[in-house]
Amino acid sequence: MSAKTPHPQHPPSQWVRRFAPLIPKAGGGKTWVLDLACGGGRHTRHLLELGYKVLAVDRDVGGLADLEPGPDLEILEIDLEDGGPWPLGERRFHGVVVTNYLHRPLFPALLAAIEEGGVLIYETFARGNERHHGPRNPDFLLNSGELLELVGLPFHIVAFEQGVVERPRTAVVQRICAVKEPAGGDDGATPHPLAPAASNPKSG
Ligand SMILES: C[S@@+](CC[C@H](N)C(=O)[O-])C[C@H]1O[C@@H](n2cnc3c(N)ncnc32)[C@H](O)[C@@H]1O
Repeated sequence: MSAKTPHPQHPPSQWVRRFAPLIPKAGGGKTWVLDLACGGGRHTRHLLELGYKVLAVDRDVGGLADLEPGPDLEILEIDLEDGGPWPLGERRFHGVVVTNYLHRPLFPALLAAIEEGGVLIYETFARGNERHHGPRNPDFLLNSGELLELVGLPFHIVAFEQGVVERPRTAVVQRICAVKEPAGGDDGATPHPLAPAASNPKSG
């Protein structure tokens, strides 16, 4: 990866910053993380800085123009809502990050694309956000507790929150961090580490 031009970026979400270090690095090596609907790539950049390899996907990858694809970075321009099959085939990831994006039909394939032991970090707007800036269409707003329903077994919920946040601006959000248990699960016999609480209130 090399930066061709400086790119103005929103800071990475505090939720992603907090839980990204839980994404496993197999044998200390680099593992692949999917940044779905990556936008300008604030999380792609953060994950690269943390030492992961990133597949960044969006229907418009113009916001990544300053990043150069290479062994640690793949960029795919794909319409995820064209009604076609899941575009990433059998590819598996040690982490999947999705923020500020919701297309419910993708969930089965998205969850299947996570390796055993892999981590899902998801954060987007929820019902109640209608009165604030941002999406108001219910298609793009999670219902109360919906991420918990969408992310069922074999996932172990590490953290879940829903409610009003004030930064980067007032919004109603819902967010989850979940780890995919081995087939059959282990009933919590090998608990996953928690992440430290967020520390920088200025980030989104
Ligand atoms: C609000 S932005 C969030 C970007 C990024 N995840 C973040 O939080 O900074 C939503 C992103 O979803 C992408 N998107 C919307 N519809 C899409 C589609 N049908 N296929 C692929 N990407 C889509 C948009 O291009 C945009 O980059």
